[in-house]
Amino acid sequence: MARHHQFRAKVIAVSDSVALANAAADRIVARIAANGGRVAICLAGGSSPKQLYGLLATAAWRKRIPWHRVHWFIGDERFVAAGDPLNNMSMARRTVLDACAPSANIHPITTDSPDPDAAAGRYERELQAFYGSQELDALRPLFDVVLLGVGPDGHTASLFPGRPAIEETERWVVGVDMAPVEPLVPRVTLTLPALASCREMLFEAAGAEKRAILARVLGGENLPANRAHSIGETVWLADQAALPEDFNGQ
Ligand code: 6PG
Repeated sequence: MARHHQFRAKVIAVSDSVALANAAADRIVARIAANGGRVAICLAGGSSPKQLYGLLATAAWRKRIPWHRVHWFIGDERFVAAGDPLNNMSMARRTVLDACAPSANIHPITTDSPDPDAAAGRYERELQAFYGSQELDALRPLFDVVLLGVGPDGHTASLFPGRPAIEETERWVVGVDMAPVEPLVPRVTLTLPALASCREMLFEAAGAEKRAILARVLGGENLPANRAHSIGETVWLADQAALPEDFNGQ
């Protein structure tokens, strides 16, 4: 299917990974402050958000978050036990959530189901119960913030190029038999429509190892990371090492 793609998000360039974590924390806190009611944040896995999570747990940031009214979800999970070092939500729990968030506000994708599809079905029902409907309403986004990263092949969450999950338009969460990049384990992932239902989608890209893929994303290539868009605002936070040399703002 030939489809013309274009990079349509806003890019915010920062100096390094420390500045990037600070900028992400600032945006998350601003989105929480803008919503006086129950807040839902969808976290990312992988290594990119670790610095941000650690930052949110520090005294200065921790006190800026009304933890009792913020709920924490995860955009994708590796189909490994909760205690496995590869488990995305376990990383978020260790770095910030267990110390700061009420446990009832932490919503992991459970991986003790027989297979990734069963786990996906369970998480979809949990999201729909939280949202109060099985239909997403553009006037009432599911999440305040969806945090994402980008992989070397342009995947985001566990939506890999050329795989069926990226084409899903009905389901909110699906199982992925096997990831084509490390770690080579099955996954459970939110789909494009579920991820899109947010006030802000925030990508983090830091370090020289992201430069090649960021150049392709900014060039508008048809990649999952370019097809993930918020119905609200979509922002890419990128540091100098990740940005192509010729990048001079959007
Ligand atoms: C995962 C992630 C995945 C990740 C990218 C970037 O479970 O692996 O959710 O989409 O964000 O692969 O990974 P790094 O941050 O480790 O580079």
